[in-house]
Amino acid sequence: MAPKLAHVNMMTDTVVANLPPEALRSIIRSLLASQPGFTIAFEENTRAYLQSTSIGGLSQISRESLGAAQTRIRCMLGCGLCYESLPVLGSLVENAKAMDYEGEFLQSIDADIVQAATAVQKSLPRSTDEKTMLNTFYDTLTTCHNQYSPINQDFPFERGLMAIANLLGRPTPTLQTKTFTSDITLDLPPAETFQLGSRQLPRLFSGLWQLSSPAWGAASISKILQQFTQYTQNGFTAFDMADHYGDAEIIFGRFRSSYLHRKTLFAATKFCVFQPMTITSDVVQANVAERCRRLQVDQIDLLQFHWQSYEDSQYINALKYLEQDDRVGMLGLCNFDTEHMQRVIDSGVTIYSNQVQFSLIDSRPVVKMGAVCEKHNVKLLTYGTLCGGFLAEKWLGKAEPRLYDSDITPSQRKYYTMILSWGNWVLFQELLETLYSIGRKHNVSISNVATRWVLDFAYVGAVIVGARMGVSEHVDENRASFGWSMDKADQEAIEVVLKRSRRLEMFEVMGDCGGEYR
Ligand SMILES: NC(=O)c1ccc[n+]([C@@H]2O[C@H](COP(=O)([O-])OP(=O)(O)OC[C@H]3O[C@@H](n4cnc5c(N)ncnc54)[C@H](OP(=O)(O)O)[C@@H]3O)[C@@H](O)[C@H]2O)c1
Repeated sequence: MAPKLAHVNMMTDTVVANLPPEALRSIIRSLLASQPGFTIAFEENTRAYLQSTSIGGLSQISRESLGAAQTRIRCMLGCGLCYESLPVLGSLVENAKAMDYEGEFLQSIDADIVQAATAVQKSLPRSTDEKTMLNTFYDTLTTCHNQYSPINQDFPFERGLMAIANLLGRPTPTLQTKTFTSDITLDLPPAETFQLGSRQLPRLFSGLWQLSSPAWGAASISKILQQFTQYTQNGFTAFDMADHYGDAEIIFGRFRSSYLHRKTLFAATKFCVFQPMTITSDVVQANVAERCRRLQVDQIDLLQFHWQSYEDSQYINALKYLEQDDRVGMLGLCNFDTEHMQRVIDSGVTIYSNQVQFSLIDSRPVVKMGAVCEKHNVKLLTYGTLCGGFLAEKWLGKAEPRLYDSDITPSQRKYYTMILSWGNWVLFQELLETLYSIGRKHNVSISNVATRWVLDFAYVGAVIVGARMGVSEHVDENRASFGWSMDKADQEAIEVVLKRSRRLEMFEVMGDCGGEYR
């Protein structure tokens, strides 16, 4: 049956016609968050819109229309037109040398290519046409690489080429990363550690979700590798990544393979099952093999397993297959609630960690999860602890963010909603003021106090702090989360604010850990 396209209620039509674009964005976002079932229709309609509107021939992408071409590519990637985006990306790559684009623009296109590779990876080529499109795009990238190498100019699409070559199993031309050398001095010991299995690890991991999209900003591979070096030299040797975090695994693998003290490094990656699937030993082994290939390792230090639908109990089988696989060093969970983590433990599978959101704003783990972790020696690896950077001096005394301003990240859009579930912006400002006073007393920052608060729960192994590699870094500031402790007065001052929040209702409304995804 043809979809009804013509009619919307008169009053709704008036609202759509009169709301400013920013308000429409905010409403669409709320609709999609509260009614995940709408996502399919949203994507279908976006695809139909993009396919029915044209940007003209590819040769017509002028300097003036570059921005429009790029936003269109991003929409294509977001709604499942990843193969269709390749010729447009290819056209930008082909013209890059001749048109002498700005360095920043080139870096952002490189990151778009990485995102295209991630999107393609999720829906591997179904037809000969799609395979051809992918191979043609690889050829375009290598041709462009050949234009840059003789003149000894940095090839701007290094991340993109690595990601596409990795996807196709095709060779990556020798790439140069001038600023990165493996000849570095020994790392500083981590300031505070915890035991995970046989490993002694820093209590702060660096999170690489921020590499999954140019929406966090984009950097060249040499800058990213430089930052990896800086982190590890300061004792931050553990990194959190996932099968769907763009090229995070590939870049980490590249860094690791040329790093002198690679035994000190620790990679926590993920195997995420978001869609219904049949679990077999082959499917599980193929995912593990892919992680090993991308990370350039024979054994994954920690593999964290995410399973979307608890109604389907195959997650226990998947975990059993993973446990039997020698290539999985330690097995962890990701966004499991207490009940299902307990079921996994009861099934006899040994798990070392569970990755969950935990912060002053979202303290759901204290309700049930913490006690079960303590009983079974499962360590929490926590994210969202800095609310995407909102728990920082930068936001003290500031008005509410405009969510679609260019300096607001996807992470902040997510955690702003959390702040509103927890309380409101006024109460959040009171929390920031309280943390600021505590910080001044101990000569540390708001972010350090927020991190310390989470670290002080014994069942927390490490806080994962998101790192915009090559774009922003907080190495020294984050070292200041260690080596001091909060006193009773500090704890009480924080509690005075938290008591006025809706922290307990959050557990009721969102459910236990990971409930916000389900
Ligand atoms: N399993 C899951 O479902 C899930 C979900 C989300 C995240 N994660 C993991 O957790 C990681 C954490 O990411 P997140 O999104 O939750 O972000 P987050 O760690 O709460 O915030 C990261 C941001 O905080 C700011 N920041 C870091 N250190 C700071 C300091 N010392 N002082 C001031 N600001 C500081 C930086 O902002 P600026 O760059 O703007 O300076 C950084 O980008 C991810 O990378 C990922 O590995 C997992």
